Amino acid sequence: MNKNPQHIAIIMDGNGRWAQNQGKKRTQGHKEGAKIVRDVTQWCASQHIPFLTLYAFSTENWKRPKVEVDFLMRLLEKYLHDEKSVYMKNSIKFRAIGDISVFNKSLQNAIFELEHSTQNHTNLTQILALNYGSHDEIARTFIKITHTLNQEDILTLTPQKMIALINANLDTATLPEVDMLIRTGGESRISNFLLWQSSYAEFFFTPTLWPDFTTDELDCMLKDFLQRKRRFGALN
Ligand code: FPP
Repeated sequence: MNKNPQHIAIIMDGNGRWAQNQGKKRTQGHKEGAKIVRDVTQWCASQHIPFLTLYAFSTENWKRPKVEVDFLMRLLEKYLHDEKSVYMKNSIKFRAIGDISVFNKSLQNAIFELEHSTQNHTNLTQILALNYGSHDEIARTFIKITHTLNQEDILTLTPQKMIALINANLDTATLPEVDMLIRTGGESRISNFLLWQSSYAEFFFTPTLWPDFTTDELDCMLKDFLQRKRRFGALN
């Protein structure tokens, strides 16, 4: 039997379809989806899972209509304000990954403020991936690394040293590798999410649309995960 996952990552897909199925605007689906974020976060904290990463806005999501992008930005900022009490009450630490420098100042401040006020919390760390894409993250990582290396470092680089440098400079530095990667909404792809960090993740794809996702379903996935045999390339 596996030990409890240290890091669960979730692609929260299906908000738009959930809303359209009910004759509502797509944005209503995102609003409903935000409530599930709270349920899943509290459940992970109650299960003593140390890290939960949620894909809230990708580097590709800018291609959506401006009204939807603007709605998501406002929803995120409101969520960060409204949910503060939940982070405080449950000692949940908040962290963002992705290039947040492009967001408006007020959203950036809400992110920094919540990171700051929860920095000493000791329960679950909830990580929101915001303007996040793995290609962008890896490219930013390589740029950071090139700024730190001199000629001699470059000549003595080995793959092992390079792997350590990449791990230390990714947005996810200090986070463990992903153990469980979940995608709701019926698609079986990972859409530029934590590509480097999921090399030995166990995958879970469910047709459930994100606003219908429940902690009961998550509990079933956890039970399945605990039964899976993970060999990490070895024989047993
Ligand atoms: C994908 O569903 C979802 C997103 C692009 C945004 C995820 C946002 C939330 C779950 C709510 C806000 C989050 C927080 C943390 C407050 P989709 O719109 O692609 O759905 P579709 O595939 O049915 O169109």
